[in-house]
Amino acid sequence: MPAMSLEVENLTSGYGPTKVLEDVSFSAPSGCRLAVLGRNGMGKTTLLATLAGQTKRYGGRIRLGEADLTDAPSATRAHHGLGYVPQARCIFPTLTVEENLFVGLKRRPKSALEEAYAMFPRLKERRKNLGNQLSGGEQQMLSTARTILGQPSVLLLDEPLEGLAPVICEELMAAFAELAKAGDMSILLVEQRIQSALDFADRVIILERGRLAWSGTPAELSADHDTVERLLGVGGLH
Ligand SMILES: Nc1ncnc2c1ncn2[C@@H]1O[C@H](COP(=O)(O)OP(=O)(O)O)[C@@H](O)[C@H]1O
Ligand SMILES: [Mg+2]
Repeated sequence: MPAMSLEVENLTSGYGPTKVLEDVSFSAPSGCRLAVLGRNGMGKTTLLATLAGQTKRYGGRIRLGEADLTDAPSATRAHHGLGYVPQARCIFPTLTVEENLFVGLKRRPKSALEEAYAMFPRLKERRKNLGNQLSGGEQQMLSTARTILGQPSVLLLDEPLEGLAPVICEELMAAFAELAKAGDMSILLVEQRIQSALDFADRVIILERGRLAWSGTPAELSADHDTVERLLGVGGLH
């Protein structure tokens, strides 16, 4: 995929009659690593789901490069380069690791699977295992790898570290950092593990009750204890 900037303007969305996200604007230039932070229930998942076309949109625009995806169905967004790795991981439990990866290949040759295995060697070792035999960390690797095989220009990761042991978190974050380094792909990372997100990101936005409450760099946020405590509810980052 060519380098593309994601532009989000005045986005308002929700579920049925309920508005959750209100008037959110930001941009994610090609190659950026954007942490999306906020306490539970503030709209982080709704933001990613809205970008992926899975909520009701009330207003605003979503552009990716030259394409206006505001009203596009989910499949069109994926085709244009939005890769969504949902919080639920969505592994097919009765398919093998390799069969799960085939789903992400679409029309690419089977040899492209090696890209996924290079990123997560553990998946190669487990390629004949069924989805339901995987640990949480392996499921996250599989879910991420399957999306990467679609060659997204923007990768949307929703709490990839949730429920995982620290050593697996480090392995995943290292793989995400490699991905970010490797090309023009931008990564939007929603995470509750704030320090991991800040170590990874080059910019940060914070959502508060569905609105954009703060944006800046990880260094600015780390130095701003009031904002950290007010919007993230933690007294200091370490
Ligand atoms: N499917 C849904 N239908 C109705 N309301 C929802 C749905 N999913 C989430 N919400 C509500 O939207 C708000 C934001 O949720 P969410 O985006 O999941 O927050 P976060 O990911 O930041 O924890 C919450 O008040 C939540 O109850
Ligand atoms: Mg969430």
